[in-house]
Amino acid sequence: MKNKLIIFDTTLRDGEQSPGASMTQEEKVRIAKQLEKLGVNVIEAGFAAASPGDFEAIMAVAKNIKKSTVCSLARALESDIQKAGMSIEPANNKRIHTFIATSKIHMENKLRMKPDQVLSQAIKAVEWALSYTEDVEFSAEDAVRSDIEFLVEVFDAVIKAGAKTINVPDTVGYSIPFIWGQRMKTLIERVPNSDKVIWSTHCHNDLGMAVANSLSAVLNGARQVECTINGLGERAGNASLEEIVMAVKTRKDIFGLESQINTKQIVPTSRLVSTITGYPVQPNKAVVGANAFAHESGIHQDGVLKHRETYEIMLAQDVGWGANKISLGKLSGRNAFKSRLSELGIEIESEETFNATFDRFKLLADKKSEIFDEDIHALVSEEYVEESYDSYKLVGLKTASESGKIPFSEIEMIMDGKSHKSTAEGSGSVDAAFKAIESIVKSQSELLLFSVNNITSGTDSQGEVTVRLSRGGRIVNGQGSDTDIVIASAKAYISALNKLHAKYERTHAQL
Ligand code: KIV
Ligand code: ZN
Repeated sequence: MKNKLIIFDTTLRDGEQSPGASMTQEEKVRIAKQLEKLGVNVIEAGFAAASPGDFEAIMAVAKNIKKSTVCSLARALESDIQKAGMSIEPANNKRIHTFIATSKIHMENKLRMKPDQVLSQAIKAVEWALSYTEDVEFSAEDAVRSDIEFLVEVFDAVIKAGAKTINVPDTVGYSIPFIWGQRMKTLIERVPNSDKVIWSTHCHNDLGMAVANSLSAVLNGARQVECTINGLGERAGNASLEEIVMAVKTRKDIFGLESQINTKQIVPTSRLVSTITGYPVQPNKAVVGANAFAHESGIHQDGVLKHRETYEIMLAQDVGWGANKISLGKLSGRNAFKSRLSELGIEIESEETFNATFDRFKLLADKKSEIFDEDIHALVSEEYVEESYDSYKLVGLKTASESGKIPFSEIEMIMDGKSHKSTAEGSGSVDAAFKAIESIVKSQSELLLFSVNNITSGTDSQGEVTVRLSRGGRIVNGQGSDTDIVIASAKAYISALNKLHAKYERTHAQL
């Protein structure tokens, strides 16, 4: 087992802490199933004590996941640990991940606790967690700024109490690779019984070094890396799973380690997470960015044509590029649609939702001859979002744009059960459509982000639009997809307005 690298994915927990990236229970289950297909060892499904919604979502993940370990985060509090323990109860393999801050700045200013109180709380937390599962992970939050003597003392004590995984987080993304590797090495050398536990690292990307720091910890003995798909996460994000996995695989000569990741599932997973969270992947992002395997310079193109390895260190197919299958077409019937959904791990329980999703599929198939897996994921997401949030609904949109003339849009939408119409001019059709919607809804929200991506290739591809709105400190992301990008934009805007209007709000406990 010495050469095995455990991949602990926290997209559904730390990833969800990205502004506006809240996911519904159904979305979390869909991502969790894809993470299992990807081969991650541990899925951190959420923070059970954060809200009843988080608790239920973890439980739903626990019921649906067979092979991967399902984990809930918990502060070192008995009530948190009890909720975490109950939420993962249905899982085949369960873990509780409990944490408490160990740095002076956190202990004094946030916890207002003395080091000896933190130490005894950490021990108690591990003991409480052990009454729900043998698989207990302990994290010393802000380990990066913690006194090394105190860290050794705390880790020694929690190992004695029964923790099986010891996680060393760079909570604020402050470290640099050499120092982080040294810290891992020192801890493993100095903590008694360090060979009886798995050492883990969890790095944030504030200085752009989360992946480099994680890999340095691995070179110095860490055998679990905590990471997220597309590097999603609090502030600048977490270490990105795809980069960690591909670095270890591509440079096996250096790391000498194996992960159990099915790398061909990397791009499909990245796409799914991006569609669901509304966080687009930058084109030049390593491994999963649209340009990651594109060669622009003539010299490079010539080299690759002559001998691929002149400029390519990985195979695009190995990470799942080009794996997007033409799933279905215009003539596909209900049974074909149902079986493709099930192959994709999507289970739609209600007949009504299935029928509505199938209707969406038929409408799309009329406009687009080849329907890909990504299109199906987008259709399903849209249907679920519309069902979960239904204050506003797009009925119709007419736009006119002509060179030399001012573009305008005419919108018809349902608001609180009644039909409303409005027209507006704008600097372009999208701007006009947003103004027309706003003249009906009067949300007074601020538009933080508007981004368009094509879901598959070709000019008949669906455009996938993300709109991020903020009001009164609350941030939401809305998504919309359509072969017409103005309609996709209007759908995304209305989806964000629905989320903003919804009563349900996540209540993140203070980390
Ligand atoms: O960044 C952090 O320290 C965390 C802990 C809860 C592990 O997310
Ligand atoms: Zn974190």
